[in-house]
Amino acid sequence: NHILLEKFWKIKKKLYWKIDLIGPNKIKTAVFISGTGTNLKTLYNFSLKKKSPIKIELVISNNKNAKGLLFSKSKKIISKVFNFKKRVIIENKILKDLEKNKIKLICLAGFMKILSRNFIRKFRGKIINIHPSLLPKYKGLNTHQRAIKNNEKFSGCTIHFVSHKLDSGKIILQKKVKIYKQDTPKSLAKRILKVEHKLYPKAIIKLYC
Ligand code: GRF
Repeated sequence: NHILLEKFWKIKKKLYWKIDLIGPNKIKTAVFISGTGTNLKTLYNFSLKKKSPIKIELVISNNKNAKGLLFSKSKKIISKVFNFKKRVIIENKILKDLEKNKIKLICLAGFMKILSRNFIRKFRGKIINIHPSLLPKYKGLNTHQRAIKNNEKFSGCTIHFVSHKLDSGKIILQKKVKIYKQDTPKSLAKRILKVEHKLYPKAIIKLYC
């Protein structure tokens, strides 16, 4: 009887949680960007769907000229720019903003700054990133150029948890993309980016639904 009762409560809790996600209580999410923001746009469009467990409440950029900021502002998302020269001070300011906005998930989307150990510790297991390679291969920059140079047959993209080591946290989801003979870093980047846009929402669904 005891076990049955316990099972019943577990199911009830899970159900309530799912119902919550449909309503106004979606997971409050911040997206960190540095550039074009096409992944931000995809995440935003995904967040409007009923099946999405997240709601985007905050956009952070280290670059005031990031094109993605035009998008976030047009959607009236609170959008903030921080100059990362003094990282410790800036990270503390960001942590305050995250707290103020009750952020429970951070999605890095083309964010070109490295977050400190301390920052990551405070959001352990709640920061995810998208990287345009099949990790653990080609961490860091110029992934497409290096993959083509090494005559790889495939590249792809990876969604992973952020740990203190660059592009090394636990992998959530990956998708392969074929490299063709005629590919340039630019053409490959373009093809992979399209796949990225499908993969990010899928990874979030995998994590929370
Ligand atoms: C993406 O390829 C992402 O994987 C990488 O930077 C690019 C950002 O593109 N980290 P966007 O700003 O989302 O358009």
